[in-house]
Amino acid sequence: MLHRPAVIPKIYPKAQDFLPLLGTDYVEFFVGNCLQAAHFYQSAFGFQPLAYAGLKTGLNDRESYVLSQGKIRIVLSSPLHSNTEIGRHIDSHGDGVHSIALTVEDAKKAYKEAMQRGAKSYMEPQESKDHQGSIITAGIHTYGETLHLFIERKNYSGCFKPGFIPWTNEHYKPQEIGLKYIDHMVGNVGLGDMNKWVKFYEEVMGFTNILTFDDQDISTQYTALMSKVVSDGTGRIKFPINEPAPGLKRSQVSEYLDFYESPGVQHIAVATDDIIGTVIALRQRGVEFLTVPANYYESLVQRVGSIEEPIETLKELGILVDRDEEGYLLQIFTKPVEPRPTLFFEIIQRKGALSFGKGNFKALFEAIEREQELRGTL
Ligand code: FE2
Repeated sequence: MLHRPAVIPKIYPKAQDFLPLLGTDYVEFFVGNCLQAAHFYQSAFGFQPLAYAGLKTGLNDRESYVLSQGKIRIVLSSPLHSNTEIGRHIDSHGDGVHSIALTVEDAKKAYKEAMQRGAKSYMEPQESKDHQGSIITAGIHTYGETLHLFIERKNYSGCFKPGFIPWTNEHYKPQEIGLKYIDHMVGNVGLGDMNKWVKFYEEVMGFTNILTFDDQDISTQYTALMSKVVSDGTGRIKFPINEPAPGLKRSQVSEYLDFYESPGVQHIAVATDDIIGTVIALRQRGVEFLTVPANYYESLVQRVGSIEEPIETLKELGILVDRDEEGYLLQIFTKPVEPRPTLFFEIIQRKGALSFGKGNFKALFEAIEREQELRGTL
């Protein structure tokens, strides 16, 4: 397939450097059955086993499996008895993202800076150690029950964190499918709350609002939403924040909020250098995607100009394309990956473009509305 240099992130000088972030450390999901979820993320998404903590490591309240692919690390955790933080989270929200952990140079400083700027504390900096070194973790709350953890791991050489042991499975090794890194993670917040959370990311985390979409940009005949994208100073960590906008019918953000029962992470966009190969693999492994109408592809070349990928292949696979001043991007969206219509994944390949597929919003939201119609939740 075609190889291009990785997209060079745009630097946003307005973003402040009081809280420099080195990258997304991991995303932790609280799920009902992490053993089975780990199997799903291996077999369907090609994640590789990395680390384990649970009964076999002396924990008596939870079990966690850590998986990785490219630079992405996910942690899947389940409770081992009733009345736990994890269990209550699952009861309220179903399976979902509990924390977005960010790697920092100095977790104590990151926590102090965020707290001085108005963050709500989840946990003060704590050091954990084993024979491979130490990690310092601190945490603050963001929208809903979602957290940001600050992870300082420069003095640690183990597979994940103290308390975890390497997890391997010699007998079952599904191949990776080319996922490289997390491109962006989207939060859904309540009506009228988008600007409050944009302000939180600007003031508490030093992010910059880099893009704004109003209800004219993102609307169909029936539903609408508004979105603003915030980015850290390096341009690597991007969090679009959505809120519902009034429409004739229930918007996808309202549906999410009803089923998640609070604000939370709506989708995780993961980057690939070969979206065609990645999507073929995902489809073969049973991952289901939103379908776009065939006529989407009729006007595609007029809209985005010439592209390197064969349109017929994109049409067969349901991959969307959009162009901005910097280049173009290809993207596709899975159906929700749990029974509640909440969290889903986006697969994205950037060929220069730094935007989020604004030209696809209408086709995409109409596709979501067709799914809502089938669920009886429109
Ligand atoms: Fe996205």
